[in-house]
Formats: sequence, C-alpha cells, structure tokens
Amino acid sequence: MSVITIALVTMTKKVENIAVLTSGGDAPGMNAAIRSVVRACSYYKLNCFGVFKGYEGLINNEIEELNARSVRNIINKGGTFLKSARSQEFRTKEGREKAYKNLLKNNIDALVVIGGDGSFTGALKLSEEFDFPVVGIPGTIDNDINGTDYTIGYDTALNTVVDAIDKIRDTASSHNRLFLIEVMGRDAGDIALNAGIGAGAEEILIPEEDMGVERLLDSLRKSKKTGKTSSIIVVAEGDKSGKNIFELGEYVEENLDDYEVRVSVLGHIQRGGAPSCYDRVLASKLGVGAVEALIEGKREVMIGIVHKEVTIVTLKTALEKRTHKHDKLIKVADITSV
Ligand code: F6P
Repeated sequence: MSVITIALVTMTKKVENIAVLTSGGDAPGMNAAIRSVVRACSYYKLNCFGVFKGYEGLINNEIEELNARSVRNIINKGGTFLKSARSQEFRTKEGREKAYKNLLKNNIDALVVIGGDGSFTGALKLSEEFDFPVVGIPGTIDNDINGTDYTIGYDTALNTVVDAIDKIRDTASSHNRLFLIEVMGRDAGDIALNAGIGAGAEEILIPEEDMGVERLLDSLRKSKKTGKTSSIIVVAEGDKSGKNIFELGEYVEENLDDYEVRVSVLGHIQRGGAPSCYDRVLASKLGVGAVEALIEGKREVMIGIVHKEVTIVTLKTALEKRTHKHDKLIKVADITSV
C-alpha cells in the first residue's frame, strides 16, 4: 500500500452510528427506505438512530435509537413514520449548528437524508460547514432529481394520478365535458406527461414545454372535428401558460362554445397511499446502498438508480438541473392522442 493510500484510508473515520431522517414533502416508499437503512445497519452491526420531523427534529434533538424490529410492518405504509417537515430554521447557519451539536451529542457519525432537492441543499450545507458525513436518498413524488432515473414515490404517485383520471374520464364522457386536471410536480412535468399518456389525455401541459394557450384551443377544435365528445387535459402545477388552472378553464370555455369545462385539482391525494411494489423495491435498494456507501467511507453523495443499477453521484451533481429531454414522450403523447 502506498503512503498516499494509507493516508486516505486512515483519514476516513469508521462509521458506527448512523442517523436517518425524512425531509420535505413525504412520498410513498419513504417508510420502506427508512426500514432498509435500519435493517442494513442491523445487518452490518451498526447502530441506527431515527430523527423525527426532519431537520426540525435534528435541531430539537428528537432522536431515538431504532432496531430491526422498530421498522416492522411499515414497508406497505404511505407517508413516513419518522414524520417530515420543511424546516425554516435549518436554512439558517445557527439552525444547522444546533443540528450539528445534537448529532455530536448523540455520538452520531453519519446522516442519511431521504428527501428532495431542498433537503439535499440542507444536507450539503451541513456537510460543507461542519465536515459531517451525509448521504442522500431521493424521495419525492416529483422525480425531479438529477443523477437518478427515478425517485422514491414517483411510481406510486403516477398510479394514483392515472387511477384518478380514469375515474374523471367516466364522468367526463357521460356529460360530454372537457376536464382540466391539475397534477403536482412543482417545476417538473414528469408526473403530468407520464400519467397523461397512461390515462389517455388529449393534451398535456408541462413546465418544460410552453405549448401556448392558442395552440391548445386549436388542438381542441381539431379534436372536436375528429369526433371527440369529451376531453381530458392534464396540467402540471408549474406549467408556463401564465394562467392558473381556473383561469385557463374559463379561457377555454369562453373561446370554445362546444365545450362545457370543469376543473379538478388532484392535490395531496397524489402523495398518499400504499407504495407500489416498484417504490418498495427501489427504496429497499437505495437504503442498503446508502449504508454500504457510508461503510465504504463515501460522503456528500446521493444514492440513485440509473439503468436499473444502484449508482452514486455527488450531492452537488444531484442538485444540478437535469439535462434530459421529454421530446420523445411528447411525440408519443401527440401521436396517441390524435
Ligand atoms: O415536492 C413534492 C410536492 O408534492 C410538489 O409536487 C408540490 O409542489 C409540493 O410538494 C407541495 O408542498 P406542500 O405539501 O408543502 O404544500
């Protein structure tokens, strides 16, 4: 072993006590991820601690030791039994310092953060300011994290949305109505686009692609001429039409005599429910991956899934804007909705 290698190995303190928290918007499968982290710790003979209410709980020292049995019967449950929060105090240096002191007080030597980009931004700051080892697991229904093909909760949310739209389609077609359905996703159109295709929507409005309100009207006029009697338009909450969904509904009704319009905002129903099998397996893989990464001395990284393989990217990369394009899916949506 060279001198440099020895120096690197000895610089990495052995991890013995790992804490896990869930932060930001909850997502189905977070419980399965916590379970996986706890059980991987147990498997590798490490101690595991659960932090309640995300970073807020870290600041207030709401930390409890967990063992393999503490996480029984939760793999099938939506939400997060550790609870979650969007902590304002953790955005301040003082808040993060309190959190760091509590980690030291509990002899914790690494933190696993299950959450989305806001949670990772906080994790990165904690790591940079206090040189504290952190590993992120992407958990958000939005699927908007760079460096992973999927985030935990996205698949379940998609199925929930498709199920809801199927039901709305029944009433839409019974009344020959046009429905505008708003779905979550913040600035990402993944839920809208994929659920829209899956539920056979006529139009899908996403933040990444501004189709313009006039083109939407044109397209709906054409649909009517081809014999469509009802229509479903899926609108991502972050769409760039410049109108909120109710204004959009009024605008369409004012400009298209043939349609009676209704608006439906699906809201937080999209975050609830039992996780799909895909999300349970994904969460299990990423939880084990996170603990193994810490054992290998990795820090300031996110464990993701790329082409079905568990992968590791830096937290900085995870926080970069995604470069992938929706073009091919948009074409599929256009072709299948003629
Ligand atoms: O990030 C998950 C998400 O559900 C987004 O899709 C949505 O914009 C946001 O959280 C809603 O947040 P809250 O529950 O805090 O209102």
